[in-house]
Amino acid sequence: MTIATRFTDLVGCEVPIQQAGMGGASTPELAAAVSNAGGLGMLTATAGDVPADIEAALAATAGRPFGLNFLMPFFDRALLEAVAHRVRLVEWFWAEPDPALVAVAHDAGALAAWQVGSRDEAVAAADAGCDLIVAQGAEAGGHVRGTTGLLPLLDAVLGAVGVPVVAAGGIGTGRGVAAVLAAGASAARIGTRFVATLESGAHPGYKQALVSAQAGDTVLTEMFGIWWPGAPHRVLRSAVQAAEALADDQAGEVVGAGEPFRVPRFAIRPPDRATRGHIDAMALYAGQAVAAVTAITPAADVVREIATDAEQLLRHLTA
Ligand SMILES: Cc1cc2nc3c(=O)[nH]c(=O)nc-3n(C[C@H](O)[C@H](O)[C@H](O)COP(=O)(O)O)c2cc1C
Repeated sequence: MTIATRFTDLVGCEVPIQQAGMGGASTPELAAAVSNAGGLGMLTATAGDVPADIEAALAATAGRPFGLNFLMPFFDRALLEAVAHRVRLVEWFWAEPDPALVAVAHDAGALAAWQVGSRDEAVAAADAGCDLIVAQGAEAGGHVRGTTGLLPLLDAVLGAVGVPVVAAGGIGTGRGVAAVLAAGASAARIGTRFVATLESGAHPGYKQALVSAQAGDTVLTEMFGIWWPGAPHRVLRSAVQAAEALADDQAGEVVGAGEPFRVPRFAIRPPDRATRGHIDAMALYAGQAVAAVTAITPAADVVREIATDAEQLLRHLTA
């Protein structure tokens, strides 16, 4: 299966699907599964042993490209400088695009991308030298940078910049991918659907909550603000309700390698495999396409299903 676009040419993959880098969900296994299925897998720099994750993904992908996402409130420049040469794409979110950081990626031989939430931020990312711009609509799961829905935002960004644009937010099926490609995007970035895969690091209870959720079950809020206040994010409404109903100030704890630590009520941290406690009351990030999550499946199946459906729809468009 191949759908050639400016994104696939630039990155060197087969289908124009980028898995979003996601704290709590992006494991090396997930990134490798997506990349090996022909998309672009992404690691997150916000959690875990990032150099070890990169080496694991390199070993599992045998030369296929994958990328690394930095969430700027938790940015570590020394880490960027240490690892940029090991990944195909470096990407940032939640700060004014910075030409000096883009130059670090380029000097290391990596592509540079910035996820943005407005036309002006997209222009700033292009001016900073980014090779790709991710336009994130307000339908997106996780932290939401702007206030505009994906289609009007995509329209404005495509009209303002010349570099390939990746569309993000509320895309969970081949229909969504076909729609944004037909509109001129070069790829779709998908988060929520990949949370509910076998390879994702999300807690099983979180994955199951995504399967059970229907369209309309998400809400944009600032409630889960502990450790990162004032940053709007889209979560399952049920998580807000469960957190509000908790009598305890502690939602749970993380018991992985190292010292256990507590997860306060309303903390930004989504539950992962090492989390214990009131999973339903933690930050269950989800986008408006959550109804597309109907089962917990291998990530490769998600890539294949979405790419096959999108390809068929696009063929009918031109037939
Ligand atoms: C669980 C979760 C965690 C996320 N963490 C990050 C992150 O660390 N960095 C980032 O750039 N975006 C993050 N996002 C946002 C994604 O990059 C992307 O914009 C979003 O998932 C797209 O919308 P969708 O979830 O409807 O597909 C996260 C999204 C989710 C669902």
